[in-house]
Amino acid sequence: MIYLDNSASTFVKPKQVIKAVNCALTKYCANPGRSGHKASISAAMEVQRVREKLSSHFNLCLPQNVVFTQNCTEALNIAILGLAREGGNVVCTENDHNSVLRPLHHLAEQQKISFTVAKQSQKGRLSVDDIKKHIKPNTYMVICNHISNVNGDIADIEQIGAFCKKHSLIFVVDAAQSGGHKKIDMQKCNIDLLTLAGHKGFFAPQSIGALLVGENVLPSPLKFGGTGTNSLDPSMPSQLPERLEAGTLPTPSILGFGAGVDFVEQNYDNIVLHLDDLTTYLNYELSKLPVDVYTQPENSFGVLAFNIPGFDSAVVANHLDSRGICVRGGLHCAPEKHKALGTTKTGAVRVSFCCFNTLQDAVRLVNEIKRFLRQQKMI
Ligand code: ALA
Repeated sequence: MIYLDNSASTFVKPKQVIKAVNCALTKYCANPGRSGHKASISAAMEVQRVREKLSSHFNLCLPQNVVFTQNCTEALNIAILGLAREGGNVVCTENDHNSVLRPLHHLAEQQKISFTVAKQSQKGRLSVDDIKKHIKPNTYMVICNHISNVNGDIADIEQIGAFCKKHSLIFVVDAAQSGGHKKIDMQKCNIDLLTLAGHKGFFAPQSIGALLVGENVLPSPLKFGGTGTNSLDPSMPSQLPERLEAGTLPTPSILGFGAGVDFVEQNYDNIVLHLDDLTTYLNYELSKLPVDVYTQPENSFGVLAFNIPGFDSAVVANHLDSRGICVRGGLHCAPEKHKALGTTKTGAVRVSFCCFNTLQDAVRLVNEIKRFLRQQKMI
């Protein structure tokens, strides 16, 4: 099998991630932060180490502002619903995933907020000017997808962050796709809330995400329950991370996430170069074929979307699957992006690499696409 669906979830996990998860299941099984015995304290200390790694990787103000969530969707829901301002307006982008669009739609349906979807005026890149023109007097938040999960388009988060700071707007960045592939400095980019999916670029098990909360915002909780602190208080604590982390944490997934952060930090330059090579090679080879490519030639982030004219993306994805290659067809939970690309009817075939893919994998993919084109007498 050749696995090229790493934007949905990375398949090959680094040995150190597997080792960390095993270690959690054998050594750190006590509940972190719920008891005073040594086993609980050592599990809590391991969890704390992962908060420290994430906080340092993203230059967040404080490790305790790393909130563990079930996934990136939950992190975005906390950011959006937990900071909703009645009568306010939110600007998001056409690159956003349904984990942004649906909570916004839910709030708008209840007539609590309005929201605007900013369009990308240049190919491949969403700029601060694309956002600026939509800001209204009641806009309180800008949400920006960093790298599109559909075709790898990128947003200029540093400029957008500077603009948000100047205008006192809360800046939320969805880094589900970029985390692990692109360095992000929360303080330099003035990001108030950064959301992550552990199982993508950080190779963690599924079921772990994170919300990194800057020092000037404090979302209301969406989940209520035990935190192991102030048990007599009927309200959730005001301090982070407990405020947003009701219930027992998934220690094995968190420790796997931490090992994934270590792996990325140890291999960062190679990961970036390798993804660039594979994306560039595939884009160049596809440019010689009668296919529609939706990813810019200079894009280097490991995500490439294309279609074969006249065919639904699912047909092409199924053909590739029958030849042992896993890619994702259809719509990628990002309806506005598909509208912008003109692919709402067909969806798009998405190839997403990770650093464990080889050039040989990309060559096999190109050969199978050519086989399909030959079968259809298109080449
Ligand atoms: N959001 C994930 C994807 O892009 C699941 O496939």
